[in-house]
Amino acid sequence: MTTADDLFDEIFDEAGAGIERLGLRALPFTESPSGTNDTDRLRKVFTGRLNELKAVFTQLRGGDRRRILVFGRIGSGKSAFVLQVLATLQRKIPDILTVYSSLDPDSDLVTTAFIALAQALPKDDWAQTQLHQLGLATAKPQKERTTEASGSLKFFGAKLSEKSLAPGELERPAEALQQLIDRARKTYTSGVIIAIDDLDKQDPARVRRLMHDAQGTLKGQASFILTGHPIGMMGDLFTSERGLFDLQIELKDLDMPTTQKMLAKYLTSVRIKPDPSDDPKDPTDIRPFTPDAAKQFCRASRGKPRLFNRLGASVLNTAILKNATQIDLELLKEGLTASQMSRRELARLTDKENRLRTLLSERGTLSDEDILMEDLETLGFRSFNELLPLLEKLEYADLASRNELGYATEFEPLNVDLPFSEFPD
Ligand SMILES: Nc1ncnc2c1ncn2[C@@H]1O[C@H](COP(=O)(O)OP(=O)(O)O)[C@@H](O)[C@H]1O
Ligand SMILES: [Mg+2]
Repeated sequence: MTTADDLFDEIFDEAGAGIERLGLRALPFTESPSGTNDTDRLRKVFTGRLNELKAVFTQLRGGDRRRILVFGRIGSGKSAFVLQVLATLQRKIPDILTVYSSLDPDSDLVTTAFIALAQALPKDDWAQTQLHQLGLATAKPQKERTTEASGSLKFFGAKLSEKSLAPGELERPAEALQQLIDRARKTYTSGVIIAIDDLDKQDPARVRRLMHDAQGTLKGQASFILTGHPIGMMGDLFTSERGLFDLQIELKDLDMPTTQKMLAKYLTSVRIKPDPSDDPKDPTDIRPFTPDAAKQFCRASRGKPRLFNRLGASVLNTAILKNATQIDLELLKEGLTASQMSRRELARLTDKENRLRTLLSERGTLSDEDILMEDLETLGFRSFNELLPLLEKLEYADLASRNELGYATEFEPLNVDLPFSEFPD
């Protein structure tokens, strides 16, 4: 072994020691769940949303076809929620098929559903041929498929990133999907559930068109769960596609007791020596956080799951760098500050966006009701609407947060490194 290797091995071991010093095996926090491969982790950490889960299960347990819309802001936990729903159905209902896919910006709802479903049916030769014609990777290479029994291969994930060539187009997507659903239902007699995540990654006009084009499909022989965030779709959907959904569920910020529980679950999921008295389903152990620090951490994350994960990662990393064995208020403060800085860097704000961020923290709030002409002028804008995309970018970076006040839209700065006294209870 060379000296250079030794150095990296040493760093590797040190990194492990840093985490272990905190009593943990690994970092539990992640930005977003990684599709259906993440079911195990998610099951251990998923917290709250009990009423929402109940409502969805009530709709889906009978095996009737349903259309469900899950909406909420970026990072509110839509993907996690849907994955948790699918994993539970898969466990509880024999002979049900659940598939999950994120909506590819270049694709449409029907084609995305078709691909996800076809990839979940590796034994269906017709489905595999269609995939192949679309230029997408099949469960196994086409040539081999015809000669080998195809039952042994498991095929996971329905991401378009798995394509091997530029995708072609389905000739009659709606009919092809209908046919595929019918084929799937012969094997999966309890029904087929298709979840399409991230409708919001499209512009609102396109989402409306996609929804319109998919109406027939959505009323077909499968259940659908769609997700998106309100700016991208709600205005349009509520007006033009009213009645299309059997259930519309909004994922709001979690309350503080639930957020505290969530923290305990995340930490317990990676704890080296779990406290034997701790209920794994409903743990209360928040070590290595001190009780004070845990409480302030939860306030800082405001019940927003993605922010919670971002802040958690930053705080633990800070603790590791400092060789800490516990996270007290002092260390928490440092970790939150580090996160604020890294989120600013990550966001790669332009000059204009930075000036808007400064203005937002000076004013405290900005809304379409109380925006000043002079503020707009200094930034070079004519109306609040023109500011919206920039404010949303700040929101996306967790540098601003949006409040819905009836018809008014209001943003406030999201500074997690404020003095703690300024956090609301
Ligand atoms: N109810 C929950 N319990 C535990 N972790 C959650 C919950 N909801 C979301 N998360 C986690 O928070 C992060 C952001 O959630 P995500 O589902 O990606 O949000 P969205 O899809 O709405 O943008 C992910 O790491 C996810 O696993
Ligand atoms: Mg998501």
